[in-house]
Amino acid sequence: MKWLFFILIIILSSSSKAQVTYHEHIAPILEKNCLSCHQENDIGPIPFTSYDDVASYASMIKFVTDTKLMPPFKADYHKVQFANERSISDEERDLIAQWIDNGLLEGKSLKAKSKKQESSNSDYDYTICMSEKFEHYGIYYDQYQVFPLELDLASDKYISDIFFEPGNKKIVRSANISLAPKGKSSKLDAWDPRYGFFAYGSLGFNSSYPNWYSWMPNTTSTRLSENEHLYLPNDSELLLHIHYGPYGEIQTDSSCVHFNFAEKQKSVLQNVPFAHIALMADTFLIEGGLKKRISSSIELPIDVSLRSITPLAHLLCRSWEVFAVLPDRSSVSILSIDDWDFHWREKYIFKEALHLPKGTKIYSTATYDNTSSNPYNPSDPPHTMKAGPHMFDENYVCYFEVNSLTSTAMISKPFTVTEDIVREFNFTVLSPGEFTIQSFDLSSGSQQTISNKIYSKGNHSLQSSELPKNKGVHIISILEKDNVLDSWWIVKL
Ligand code: HEC
Repeated sequence: MKWLFFILIIILSSSSKAQVTYHEHIAPILEKNCLSCHQENDIGPIPFTSYDDVASYASMIKFVTDTKLMPPFKADYHKVQFANERSISDEERDLIAQWIDNGLLEGKSLKAKSKKQESSNSDYDYTICMSEKFEHYGIYYDQYQVFPLELDLASDKYISDIFFEPGNKKIVRSANISLAPKGKSSKLDAWDPRYGFFAYGSLGFNSSYPNWYSWMPNTTSTRLSENEHLYLPNDSELLLHIHYGPYGEIQTDSSCVHFNFAEKQKSVLQNVPFAHIALMADTFLIEGGLKKRISSSIELPIDVSLRSITPLAHLLCRSWEVFAVLPDRSSVSILSIDDWDFHWREKYIFKEALHLPKGTKIYSTATYDNTSSNPYNPSDPPHTMKAGPHMFDENYVCYFEVNSLTSTAMISKPFTVTEDIVREFNFTVLSPGEFTIQSFDLSSGSQQTISNKIYSKGNHSLQSSELPKNKGVHIISILEKDNVLDSWWIVKL
């Protein structure tokens, strides 16, 4: 009798152990992590919306999730957490494996499909679209094109919501918006007979705000967080740099950008990312046949919080390692990518801003493989590669968006960088006071006071004659009486 009881227990416990089924376990994982790209007429090549589709690609799904090829996210998310991270957990990976091992059970459908909400222009304060349709060649190539969109706003704006709407989801793989003064790109635009102009890795000129906003198909949160706004000067043009994925037939696209404006200009707008650090190499050359490591570093002259990091390199690059050494000699990892893929480059936004005190040193290293064993090498035999915007150029830039931790009276306006020359430096004083403006030459380490006086409330600018003249990277700082720094920017003169 006793053994019968045990058998009963075993039968009961094994039948009560939930079977992994498509509808109960697998569909929710795919919905959360994959469907932003893998739907009918979307950028991912296979739709994962029905049992039949998913079951027929089951082993491939297991392979790409096991090897972390999918969902695509190149940064190591164990070291730093990113707000725009795409990853599936070990438990989810195990469920996929169990489902396949147990024979791809379908199970019962649990809920009606939720309909995707379509947006309409009237949901937004301002909408701007590509003025023409761009034609994708349809020759199974990735294509990169920049579309300058001229704004028509009555005044400068602070943006509280931003939403990029791809015109053709089959081909639009990512979009990166940079800002430049109106007309800045007209020469490049005139050079390319097609709508917009061709640019591969970067725009081909210095914009005043690179990587102002970045979009990928799974970008869901368009609302910026409380008190966080993007600053949009009225005299800007948006440079919409779109990556079109490979496709076998001619396709067209006309994408749009929608905005909501911050209701009231709040007095506290420190969270507007107000400055950039761009780490670049002094000299950049990768000889054919060589593997090379390129490094640079910067010592922070003030306390900052890092909001995002955008590494930029092309096809020779293999990895990125960026970390900070704090004044107490402890180190913090900022970004680690061990299989850089140009086509999946993106802006990495920190989940929590990284606070780094004055005196912290940020180090950035990228490795490059210019041998013929690098399958992505665009030239064969390998050529010497210089820095530049095109496919047969390489690049090494690591952008950070930063906020000052000590900002009080003022916020900075992005100032105009024209070609390689800073023409003027504009800033706004929100409450009058005595301010010192200094420039700090990063290469020589020398510091120079540009002005020290009482500034009235309102807009002010420094003319080019007042700005440093020697070539190099300079930080322009605005300091209050008590030496609290309010705004700074690194520029290449
Ligand atoms: C951000 C968009 C995006 C997300 C999210 C995404 N994929 Fe993909 N996936 C792609 C693209 C684009 C490709 C085409 C290959 C490439 O360009 O890397 C692809 C390729 C694939 C392939 C290989 C198909 C082939 O023909 O080679 C599989 C399988 C796949 N994805 C599964 C998944 C799974 C499973 C998930 C979720 C866990 C997922 N993907 C999430 C965009 C995405």
